Amino acid sequence: MDSYCVFGHPIEHSKSPWIQTRFAELTGQTLKYEKTWVPLDGFSASVHAFRAAGGKGCNVTLPFKTEAAALATECSPRVALAQACNTLKFDGEHIYGENTDGLGLVTDLISNAGFALQGRRILLIGAGGASAGVLGPLLTQKPHCIWVANRTIDKAIQLVARHASLALAEGVDCQAFGLTHEAILSQSFDLVINASSSSLQQAALPVPASVLHANGLACDLMYGPAALGFLEWARAHGTEARDGLGMLVEQAAASFHLWRGVQPPTQEVLADLRALLNSSK
Ligand code: ATR
Repeated sequence: MDSYCVFGHPIEHSKSPWIQTRFAELTGQTLKYEKTWVPLDGFSASVHAFRAAGGKGCNVTLPFKTEAAALATECSPRVALAQACNTLKFDGEHIYGENTDGLGLVTDLISNAGFALQGRRILLIGAGGASAGVLGPLLTQKPHCIWVANRTIDKAIQLVARHASLALAEGVDCQAFGLTHEAILSQSFDLVINASSSSLQQAALPVPASVLHANGLACDLMYGPAALGFLEWARAHGTEARDGLGMLVEQAAASFHLWRGVQPPTQEVLADLRALLNSSK
């Protein structure tokens, strides 16, 4: 049986085995998918051992996404821009690296939330790994602008600089700001994406509610309790809000498609996963 897994540290929380197993059932694919904890200094050895034992591919989660990009013998343009990789596909000695996080977010917004991105004004909060994973695929949807706002402005400047050629090619106004810059505080955005980890530290919301638009959408890349503060804040100000669960399912679907060549039915799996998480609260 074809074998896949997700590598992480920690890994206990991972929903990937549940999602990938559902995809396999619903598409009639025969495969095995497990979660594998690896020590912080053992990622490369674990991947090579899994591949040598016949593994066909893997997902990679924190903190190994940068190492996974370095391990791949060939990378997609998305991995090169994000400098991070969440999916590896093995073919003999060849290791192909893809980053499906941003693809997953874009598919969730367009297909599941029905929110077209072309011509929109987007505020992306944060300039760490999560933000880097989604900026490239967001740019390719040709929004009017993507302004990246980060507490440490230098990180936003570096992230935007790395994406400057793509932004130019797509005709998108992509700029970097500090969180308290006048340009951010003085207007609202069609889409506000929280890619910062501020809620994990129970910190205050990183931006004022003036950035929200009544007909817009606010999206947190996290799900579960970590996303609640941001979602409740957006809804309290009359803006529709969405957590990162749809992105989680859609990035998994993009990995499944890369490995199996088959598109799984994501909306059904997303509904089931949401019901499962709600019932276990
Ligand atoms: P991840 O992989 O989740 O993106 P990361 O790479 O450590 O994690 O990035 C965390 C992001 O959340 C960064 O943009 C960070 O801002 P800094 O670059 O200034 O550190 C942001 N962040 C974390 N805590 C924050 C807070 N309390 N307020 C605002 N931004 C915060």
